Amino acid sequence: MTNHILVSDKDRVRTISFNRPDKKNALTRAMYTTIAEAMESADKDPGIRVIVFKGVPECFTSGNDMVDFQIAATNPEGREAAMAPVKRFLDALITTKTPMVSIVDGLAVGVGVTMLLHCDLVYCSKRASFQTPFTALGLVPEAASSQIMPAVMGHQQAAELLLLSKKIDAKTALRLGFVTRVFKTVKLDKKAAAEIKTLSELPPSSVRMAKALMRRAPESLTERMDVEGREFSARLSSEEFIEAASAFMSRRKPDFSKFE
Ligand code: COA
Repeated sequence: MTNHILVSDKDRVRTISFNRPDKKNALTRAMYTTIAEAMESADKDPGIRVIVFKGVPECFTSGNDMVDFQIAATNPEGREAAMAPVKRFLDALITTKTPMVSIVDGLAVGVGVTMLLHCDLVYCSKRASFQTPFTALGLVPEAASSQIMPAVMGHQQAAELLLLSKKIDAKTALRLGFVTRVFKTVKLDKKAAAEIKTLSELPPSSVRMAKALMRRAPESLTERMDVEGREFSARLSSEEFIEAASAFMSRRKPDFSKFE
């Protein structure tokens, strides 16, 4: 446990906040462990429908704590063991079934950017900036960003971030496709909260299944249509669909609050 990560649950939303402003929210091993634990427990809790990551004003996170990592790299317990908390967090990014949303104000560096590629929705302020300076540090990309980034934006655009270590602004991130929307800084929290509320009120298993389908490994369109078709048919007899259809017929707002 570390007080550099704040975890709170409200209205079916778990918010994981990076809270180490004096070090630009640089992530230590203790912080990675707390984040991973919060993600894992949220994913097992049917009462949680959305996981939200956020930072402090003007800073999402400056990525891995450089000091902590230098110590970890030379740790007698072994590099692999020292890096285990990071791996646990990165694994959670891939395995979490609950939709994940990031709210980015100000700077996002390193894993502060690559984690966004695993989020389902990313909202940022106009003053947000994004940089993955792996090569500038003599490192290589992580969190599967070397695969996801070229797929999202094309090799040449990804190369500016992953080879040149270039810093980009919010407008560019939106154009490149790894940010969902850019909001005026003063409106960011309110606008993002409205979208998160909508997501948290939708039929939960339908949302999780839709996310799982979107995250499936590429396959032939025929195979994908078969998988979707089976799920679609099964969901026609789900309680969630019955509630949606009956609300439509009786011209009332559907209520999915009782579903898990
Ligand atoms: N790890 C450890 N400490 C960090 C850090 C990081 N990733 N990022 C910032 N800090 C610390 C600074 O050392 C400084 O500490 P100090 O006040 O004790 O000297 C404090 O946070 C404020 O940072 P500072 O550099 O003064 O702020 P800035 O606004 O001028 O610059 C950054 C902010 C993020 C651009 C700059 O700190 C930076 O480049 N950090 C490293 C980012 C990085 O390379 N991350 C790893 C990617 S793989």
